[in-house]
Order: sequence, then structure tokens, then C-alpha cells
Amino acid sequence: MNSYSKIATYYSKFSSLFFSKKDILRFIEKSFLDYGVKKDCKILDIGCADAKLLFLLKRRGFKKLYGIDISSKMINLAFKRAVLKGIKLYNLNFLNFTSRKKFEAALCTMDVVNHVPKKDVFDFFKNANIILKKNGILIFDINTKEYLQKLGRRRLIVKKLGGTLLGWKFNLTSRYLKIDFSVRERNGKNISEDVYQFIYDEEFVENVLKDYGFEVLQKVYDYKFPFKTKFSSKVCYVCKKI
Ligand SMILES: C[S@@+](CC[C@H](N)C(=O)[O-])C[C@H]1O[C@@H](n2cnc3c(N)ncnc32)[C@H](O)[C@@H]1O
Repeated sequence: MNSYSKIATYYSKFSSLFFSKKDILRFIEKSFLDYGVKKDCKILDIGCADAKLLFLLKRRGFKKLYGIDISSKMINLAFKRAVLKGIKLYNLNFLNFTSRKKFEAALCTMDVVNHVPKKDVFDFFKNANIILKKNGILIFDINTKEYLQKLGRRRLIVKKLGGTLLGWKFNLTSRYLKIDFSVRERNGKNISEDVYQFIYDEEFVENVLKDYGFEVLQKVYDYKFPFKTKFSSKVCYVCKKI
């Protein structure tokens, strides 16, 4: 359902239109400092896509980096460079990921959890707990219910990037926002792919975290603000496996 197969090559272009990776990186580094995740700790990025966050962490001196993504197209984009940098990437559904090694930290940023359907979301957090060491740190975000509903009401966003026209057509139900992403190149090439974002409210997420052995250490909005406003798009959690 959320294969990111046709749109993978465009992801790095459009992802920065919606959110600043710098804010995410700053928040992650500060959380790592606050909660004792050191440069030689094993860190797994769940839904790593083109591995941009892992490359940034590598540059900041983190040594043992791993990424997993369900999309083979995404993993292929990053694979060669990742090998050169000593970053290990897996092309797998995280729900099926097992590992003998345990991680000191797991990251799951920029809507990954929203792509997980409700029937699987419990197993997602269960597996996040399994792959972490005791006291391991999980940092993830969820698009707020209000933000997804706002996009749904907007119906359509169009942006021009160089000669490329990017379009997002939204279709909202009570359970998910369907996003029909399309690209029209200057040479006439057209592609489109549907991506689903499932709607989770904070109370639900916090109950699931509790049920699957996590303590919430910190909760912020849009990776910076302690309070939710009408402009907030993401709620971001730092949790500890207990
Ligand atoms: C919006 S992108 C976010 C990518 C990246 N975390 C970032 O910060 O740019 C969501 C990614 O999650 C991946 N994904 C969705 N469900 C997944 C799952 N069950 N297991 C692994 N990857 C998944 C998608 O293939 C996609 O690359």
C-alpha cells in the first residue's frame, strides 16, 4: 500500500518542502545527549527512505548506523553510498524485521508511523520494543489528526520545482488520508502513486506506547515547540524502553 516505488526518486526533492531535516537532526542530537545515546551506540532508522538522516548522523560522528525501508527503490537510491560510509541498509518491512543485535536507539521520522495501518500499528511498536536494548531510546513522529484533516479539506496542493510540476491530491476518510502524488516533467513524463496516512490521535498512541513497554520521556511539536498550536503538524515523542 505504501510502497514509495514510483515516487522514490522525487522524495528527496519534495520532502524538504514540507519539513526541515535540520530541525529533526538538532532535536535528535539534543535527545541523544540528554538520554545518553553515545556516538558508538547502535542506531536504527526505521523507514529510512533515501537514508539522508543516516548520512547526516554519520557526518556528526555516529559510527554504528543501520536503516530499514520497505521500498526497494528507496534503498537502491542510497545503497552504494551507504556501503561506502559503512551504513548497513535492509530492504524489509519493519514488521518482519528480526535482529540478533539490539539497538541503543531507533528513529522513525517524517510520517513513517502514519503509513502503518491500524491493524499493524500494535505489532510495529511491539517490534520496536523487541529490537531495542533495555532503556533504549525510540524517537518518532506522527502527523497530528488536525493537520491531516486540514490537508484533507484543502483537497489539492501543486508546487513547481524547476521544470517539474508536483501535485498532491487529498482524499480524507475518518480513518486515513489518501494522498495521490503526481509528477509531471517538462518532457511530458507523468507518474503518480497513492500513499495512505492513517490517522492516530495522541491519546491512542500514548496508550499503545504504555501497553508495549515504553515510557514517554519527552513530547514536542514540530521537533521544537513544547505546546501544540493550530499550526502544529507533527507530534514528536522521545520514549524509553522500560
Ligand atoms: C515519508 S517517508 C520518510 C522517510 C525518512 N524517515 C525521512 O525522514 O525522510 C516514509 C518511508 O517509510 C517507509 N515505510 C513505510 N512503512 C514501512 C514499514 N512497514 N517498514 C519499513 N519502511 C516503511 C516508506 O517506504 C518510506 O520510504
